[in-house]
Amino acid sequence: MAHNFETWSPERTVEIITALADLEGPLLPILHEIQETFGCVPPAAVPIIAGALNLSRAEVHGVVSFYHDFRETPAEGRSIKLCRAEACQARGVETLVKAVDGKVAFEPVYCLGLCASGPSALIDGRPVARLTAERLIALAGA
Ligand code: FES
Repeated sequence: MAHNFETWSPERTVEIITALADLEGPLLPILHEIQETFGCVPPAAVPIIAGALNLSRAEVHGVVSFYHDFRETPAEGRSIKLCRAEACQARGVETLVKAVDGKVAFEPVYCLGLCASGPSALIDGRPVARLTAERLIALAGA
């Protein structure tokens, strides 16, 4: 998948915020535009957005982390859907998530039908079972 994302800069972030700040409920449109521009919502953008909209950093961060569409690092063309349903949780997916936090961007999914051999993921549509943090990082190219 080819991406033409811009390199993040505070100046460009301010431009995007300024263009959308007058909307009613500007936070989500701003976050979407930032992600479309840079491929993610970098943590460094959060205090700038918070300052411009008179929100706390925690409020902005809360919205970024609440919506699974937003990511803090670019996807690098890999689609990673990591199963966080019960059987994979029992097989240690949350420990794996903690180990890759900030290194690998993924979307949660809830059961891929590979429960007996979890933790499981779909990587670019390909099922992968018995994941470890090291393997996930390698597969993600992180
Ligand atoms: S619970 Fe993860 S694949 Fe079913």
